[in-house]
Amino acid sequence: MKKLALILGLAMAATPSWASQQLASDMACYNCHSATQRSGAPTMARLAEHAVKLRGNDAAIKQAAEQLRAKSWLHPIAVHERLSPAAAETLMRWLSEGAH
Ligand code: HEC
Repeated sequence: MKKLALILGLAMAATPSWASQQLASDMACYNCHSATQRSGAPTMARLAEHAVKLRGNDAAIKQAAEQLRAKSWLHPIAVHERLSPAAAETLMRWLSEGAH
């Protein structure tokens, strides 16, 4: 199931939102971006609030995905850096659509 969600998340251009949520869950995003704030990471809802301005803007979503994957010296986050370009883009698009 994990593999299936990953393949769906990577391969499909119009990914159903449940697949993206599964991807976020499989990639352990919720470990830090949970419903309640933990370890200095914004909640998933807060991330979505910020990402809403990217909605429908493919170039901006791609750029945000690259930014997420880029190594940060201030906050090195291995899970962010390990994302494939396609997975990062899928997750940023999902966030921009409200992360439901
Ligand atoms: C180890 C904890 C941790 C995990 C796991 C994690 N994050 Fe984060 N994330 C953070 C922290 C901390 C920040 C805030 C970084 C900062 O303030 O610069 C952040 C910031 C972000 C941001 C905002 C980036 C920005 O430039 O403002 C996005 C989007 C994001 N995370 C998405 C994800 C996604 C998607 C996943 C799953 C693939 C994930 N995160 C997994 C800790 C984590």
